[in-house]
Amino acid sequence: MEKGIAIAGTIAVDYIKTIDQYPEKGMLGNILSSSRGVGGCVTNTLCDLAKMDPTIPLYAYGGIGDDENGDFVVRVLKEHDINTDGIVRFPGEMTAFTDVMTLVATGERTFFNAKGANKIYSYSDLDFDSLEVDLFHIGYAFLMDPFDREDEEYGTVMARALARVQSMGIRTSMDLVSVENERYSEIVKPSLRYCNYFIVNEIEAGKTVNLSPYGPDGSIDEVRIRKICELILEAGVKDMVVIHAPLGGWAMTNTGEFYFAPSLKLPQNYIKGTVGAGDAFCAGMLYGIYKEMPVKEALEIACMTAACSLSEYDSISGMKTIDEIKSIYGKFRV
Ligand SMILES: Nc1ncnc2c1ncn2[C@@H]1O[C@H](COP(=O)(O)OP(=O)(O)O)[C@@H](O)[C@H]1O
Ligand SMILES: [Mg+2]
Repeated sequence: MEKGIAIAGTIAVDYIKTIDQYPEKGMLGNILSSSRGVGGCVTNTLCDLAKMDPTIPLYAYGGIGDDENGDFVVRVLKEHDINTDGIVRFPGEMTAFTDVMTLVATGERTFFNAKGANKIYSYSDLDFDSLEVDLFHIGYAFLMDPFDREDEEYGTVMARALARVQSMGIRTSMDLVSVENERYSEIVKPSLRYCNYFIVNEIEAGKTVNLSPYGPDGSIDEVRIRKICELILEAGVKDMVVIHAPLGGWAMTNTGEFYFAPSLKLPQNYIKGTVGAGDAFCAGMLYGIYKEMPVKEALEIACMTAACSLSEYDSISGMKTIDEIKSIYGKFRV
């Protein structure tokens, strides 16, 4: 592969606040620090990829508002040499933003999200004809209302979009968010048939096929993870399903091969914030796929890129070049 990677979908700004405690409703918690960074699938995953390997051509597709946060996002993407021609600005609309409340002691976070322009960015805003890449990744389902809508022919607009990209000879990939939605499985399933790769966390994978990844004691059950992978492949994912969780990453290919790579054994107090760590895992996995690495190696890289992200409060500043990643994180391998 050499034509690059396009990522479409959620573009956002994160206001990352570290707090001393999560207050009860009506009570007060203290903000210990506050900063602004980029957020969302498009912005996080692309900036991570750019930092890993600046030679890969990268393209952003999505919607923003005509506000200062929109200027900020475009500026950061351009600083990373990411093509922003596919970004549409909607007059009078906000750029999506998230208040990320991170508990200082544990790094656990709670999100308050404003969908902003991601609410209106739609199929007709995506300039399919301009796509000249090897890989197309889209995320997140459940945060892009016009793509979650029903489509008579394909089931959902997201599925229609993925089908169109695949018909152009481009391999497709999708990510989701963990939300409560009665129709979770119904909304995801039509897209699976048009995904080459499906890279999600354990909660999202479970919800996709209505099977919990956890055993009776509440910990991840690998037998269930395997079953979930099989069901997702049966539902139509063409090449590979990848599931990540704090424990590590699993992958199953269309030939039924199943792999696991454990998360790194990180020093105490290493984790500053988990925001963007899933996107960083995705970036590592997409990198491995793009570079045609063996699956096990790609999973290991993905666990390392997730670890990079955990080293900083924001989504992208912990990311490093692929050579640095291999030399620094190799020693934390289990
Ligand atoms: N304590 C941890 N140790 C190792 N990896 C972690 C840890 N916490 C989070 N991660 C990584 O970050 C991922 C979080 O992804 P996800 O829940 O999708 O969040 P998001 O996409 O919002 O960043 C996990 O699946 C795992 O890969
Ligand atoms: Mg995620």
